[in-house]
Amino acid sequence: MAEIQIDNLLKSFGAFTAVSDVNITVKDGEFVFLLGPSGCGKTTTLRMIAGLEMPSGGKIAIAGRDVTYLRPRYRNVGMVFQDYGLYRHMTVFGNIAYPLEVRRLDRATIAEKVNAVARTMQITDALNRKPDQLSAGQLQRVAIARMLVRDADVFLMDEPMSHLDAQLRGQMRAELRHIQKQVGVTTIFVTHDQLEAMTMADRIIVMKDGQMLQFATPREIFERPATEFVASFVGEPQMNVFDVTLTQSDRGMVAATPDFAIALDQDWVRRNHLADRAGQIVRLGIRPEHIAIQAGVDAGHPIAATLYSFEPTGAENLYVLRCGTVEVTTRTSTTDTAHLGKDHGTPLAAHIDQNWIYLFDKQTGHTIAQAAASRTDEEEA
Ligand SMILES: Nc1ncnc2c1ncn2[C@@H]1O[C@H](COP(=O)(O)OP(=O)(O)O)[C@@H](O)[C@H]1O
Ligand SMILES: [Mg+2]
Repeated sequence: MAEIQIDNLLKSFGAFTAVSDVNITVKDGEFVFLLGPSGCGKTTTLRMIAGLEMPSGGKIAIAGRDVTYLRPRYRNVGMVFQDYGLYRHMTVFGNIAYPLEVRRLDRATIAEKVNAVARTMQITDALNRKPDQLSAGQLQRVAIARMLVRDADVFLMDEPMSHLDAQLRGQMRAELRHIQKQVGVTTIFVTHDQLEAMTMADRIIVMKDGQMLQFATPREIFERPATEFVASFVGEPQMNVFDVTLTQSDRGMVAATPDFAIALDQDWVRRNHLADRAGQIVRLGIRPEHIAIQAGVDAGHPIAATLYSFEPTGAENLYVLRCGTVEVTTRTSTTDTAHLGKDHGTPLAAHIDQNWIYLFDKQTGHTIAQAAASRTDEEEA
């Protein structure tokens, strides 16, 4: 059982800074995800926590003990590598037993522990086989079993599901989350897959270019993103984001493009001090589920659009619309849109839910105004 405390972690490779200003406290038993695009520094951060890479600066403490420059074997950390790192010449039993043999446990205890994790990971039948004889899904289970078999203070997992097909990944998400909560060991899981992080994490750290952009619960990351990058990285299909000019009109402040203007809630405009930004170009964000579409253009103040492409996913319908120079994707239930045309060029009207509009600074990418309907964790609790 252990808390992980990381202060001002820094890693440079020559003149290149791979990781900087990482500051996190992972609570005892927490399942934390490090999420970001390829090359953003996730593996480097994990390897520093494991002791496989020496930091260029900063401090790492596990269970209150400074381990920054401690060798891996003195950290009591279990790890699953992206390529699993199994020994080909050893059986599955031998691979799982290995970390226990290194610690010189007696044979009976080793066999008991290996059999127990093999049952948990449902690989009992494979214990006498070698890695070459296993499927991708079994290999991954063996790698996880080898991590679980030790009474480690901390588990670290680097994209463990990247070799699995979509269906297996879906199963493993639920299973791994269940196992993590059952064993209760503080775990950091690295992934570039937002769905994995959103569905499994207690909290998510979003990284980009070696820096942390946000550290919060999945719901808060999704509803109250700190930057445009975070907003666009989570959610599928992506949030629509486009340039607007904040303009004072006789109806109060609107967000205008050359082709249409979106009325803003004037209370929200006041609360976020948007009058100070009158005349500025900012980025407006709206998720696909918060744009409704209809056939006519006469109700309320909808936006005139033409259908660019229709993408039925089975459970729901995606409509990609052209609204003048702006392209937006909308996501609707199949029943709501059953009566609408589906051909390229079909004229439609789009209606943006003003309670779910986000604004981002065009230069810094920082969120200027969170959606009026979004809630913080404190409000949710
Ligand atoms: N040993 C190394 N030497 C030089 N550059 C490295 C080394 N390891 C990683 N990098 C660079 O650091 C950045 C972060 O890498 P990595 O942590 O592997 O990213 P991620 O796991 O998020 O894909 C990348 O630009 C990568 O090329
Ligand atoms: Mg990596």
